[in-house]
Amino acid sequence: MNLSMKKVNKICCIGAGYVGGPTMSVIASQCPEITVTVVDINQARIDQWNDSDLDNLPVYEPGLKEIVEKTRGKNLFFSTEVDKAIDEAEIIFISVNTPTKTYGKGKGQAADLKFVELCARNIAKVAKTDKIVVEKSTLPVRTASAIKSILENTGNGVKFEILSNPEFLAEGTAIEDLLHADRVLIGGDETPSGQEAKDTLSSIYEHWLPKERVLQTNVWSSELSKLVANAFLAQRVSSINAISALCERTDANVAEVSRAIGTDSRIGPKFLNASVGFGGSCFQKDILNLVYISRTFGLNEVADYWEQVIIMNDYQKRRFAENIISTLYNTVSGKKIVFFGWAFKKDTNDTRESAAINIADALLEEKAEIVVYDPKVSADRIYADLDYLDTRTPEENRQLLTVVNDPMEAVQEAHAIAILTEWDEFKTYSWDTIFEKMLKPAFVFDGRRLLSKEEMEEKGFQYYKIGQS
Ligand code: UDX
Ligand code: ADP
Repeated sequence: MNLSMKKVNKICCIGAGYVGGPTMSVIASQCPEITVTVVDINQARIDQWNDSDLDNLPVYEPGLKEIVEKTRGKNLFFSTEVDKAIDEAEIIFISVNTPTKTYGKGKGQAADLKFVELCARNIAKVAKTDKIVVEKSTLPVRTASAIKSILENTGNGVKFEILSNPEFLAEGTAIEDLLHADRVLIGGDETPSGQEAKDTLSSIYEHWLPKERVLQTNVWSSELSKLVANAFLAQRVSSINAISALCERTDANVAEVSRAIGTDSRIGPKFLNASVGFGGSCFQKDILNLVYISRTFGLNEVADYWEQVIIMNDYQKRRFAENIISTLYNTVSGKKIVFFGWAFKKDTNDTRESAAINIADALLEEKAEIVVYDPKVSADRIYADLDYLDTRTPEENRQLLTVVNDPMEAVQEAHAIAILTEWDEFKTYSWDTIFEKMLKPAFVFDGRRLLSKEEMEEKGFQYYKIGQS
């Protein structure tokens, strides 16, 4: 194979999700001479990507719809014709979902690779020419070798070069992160053909990033680095959240502690915001994966060490819910509690592992009446998140929880508001008007440290801010 010498004309991405969609849109916008096809087996999702109303794209990300508008139908295409796209592409990105296993060996910890495996088998069946296959989904270490073995043993005699190219974008800032990536990681075999494949993929990123930012490693370092990067980031959040509990019992203020430690250049200021707990599709899944892999190798101390990051996150969510219940005189039954925010962070419509889900679950078990307002998350998504837990019947969930499009309607005669996502618009609300509309005493539980304690107390609220006594 000599793809590095050949110009790349066509690439495809299998999986039109939160990673595949934005990533390929940016590649299409930066590489106008390359035809980029994003395929998915989910017809509804592809229809949304092709919707003439760009506000209906399945993924909300600042800047995304502008890029899709510029490139769609020119060199960016969304389709369900998976086989055709595989056949035509020189480079195939695999960006399908890899949820935590819900059955069998590794249940609750290991990544379920069935979608990746199906993809690999499909590529093996369809490919008639040499391909570079790039794994972009977050995968446990050594998945590339599994993909390689499937491709080599069931293929049509064509040559495959397997690369690991983990995606480091954070949701809500995906486009910025892609355009100004700190680094791009490409792992591949340390053979002449592996090197050629790495250089070919690198040439795509070099359209807009300096060559020095593209780091080449062996496959396993690349796969492991993705898990470790997420584990380190999540660990910082759990560390500061642990301290937030201590701050609440003392006169320390977690924001002051964050600032004080973050100005130490060895620690740095980022990822030190105490919150109601981290969510998102990666942190928990990747750490569980790291824990599972470590245990598989008998490294129990290593596994326990990383597992504690999850244990602390679960504690933070539980602590927040329990505080609401105890502050509302130990009973929330029949009380109207408004959720401002359901997404796992601002500027995304993604709700995977969002703290709001567990907090709602805990309060619904106490028969609270919840009203949710989130500027970007649909009612269907919210109910699907709750139904998935299987704690109550879908009917009970719909009886106890309602979703509204107007925050001011939500707060009418509410006992309490819980701020669970740091959407900017919550800061711009007339909190005086909100106070007027609520029952008294009017409680606000700020899980994102969004508002000023002094101002809220001045307005008359009983205001609880995470990490402050
Ligand atoms: C993360 C990684 O940042 C990204 O590199 C990787 O590719 C995917 O996983 P993402 O989950 O999209 O990205 O968002 P991120 O900004 O990391 O936030 C994750 C969670 O941590 C959110 O719930 C966020 O609210 C929370 N968080 C983050 C905090 O509570 N405090 C912080 O200081 C930072
Ligand atoms: P991520 O956040 O990693 O992008 P998502 O769940 O948002 O994950 O997206 C993964 C996408 O992959 C889904 O839209 C799903 O339908 C798609 N997918 C899963 N398996 C296959 C497959 N074998 N062929 C094509 N698409 C697939």
